[in-house]
Amino acid sequence: MEKIKLGVLISGRGSNMQALIKAGQDCSFPAEVVCVITNNNKAAGLKIAKQAGISAFIVENNPLDADRIHEILVQHKVHLICLAGFMRILKADFLTKWHNKVVNIHPSLLPSFKGLSAQEQALKAGVKITGCTVHYVTPEVDAGSIIAQTAVPVLPNDNIQSLSERILAEEHKCYVEAIRLIAENINH
Ligand code: GRF
Repeated sequence: MEKIKLGVLISGRGSNMQALIKAGQDCSFPAEVVCVITNNNKAAGLKIAKQAGISAFIVENNPLDADRIHEILVQHKVHLICLAGFMRILKADFLTKWHNKVVNIHPSLLPSFKGLSAQEQALKAGVKITGCTVHYVTPEVDAGSIIAQTAVPVLPNDNIQSLSERILAEEHKCYVEAIRLIAENINH
């Protein structure tokens, strides 16, 4: 079985990217990360990618060079683009070229708490359960079809950091399982 090739777009820490790279190193996992692209030359995730021997690229951020991103992804024969803490919005013309081939992870149970600071939004709303969502990316932010979700409890003494950490641990597993699901469907 040929592995599905993943291109990961990051802007920062890169812990979800790292979880996908690690999953891909297992020969039984149906996908592998073949390139990492960032709009931020200071992204900590760049170092992680390079250490793992994955080709990593920095693209112009102002304005975002979406044509260059497209070119790198095509050169690497990417089947599926994984946004992992990518802090720029991809425009409709890019998403049209990659229709149903761009997925994202968001730290809430969508459709609740779209946009930035989803964990803080959950705390402020006083919900007792939040979580994470892997979804397809459409021009409307955090609104595409849902692929996988994991629920995470909000505990009485939580602050943004403690809640974010609890969600993040689940994000890593949820993202890997969502990619497995998609890759297995593509392979069949
Ligand atoms: C994660 O919480 C993800 O859900 C959100 O941005 C954060 C990225 O973290 N979209 P990391 O860079 O993967 O560590």
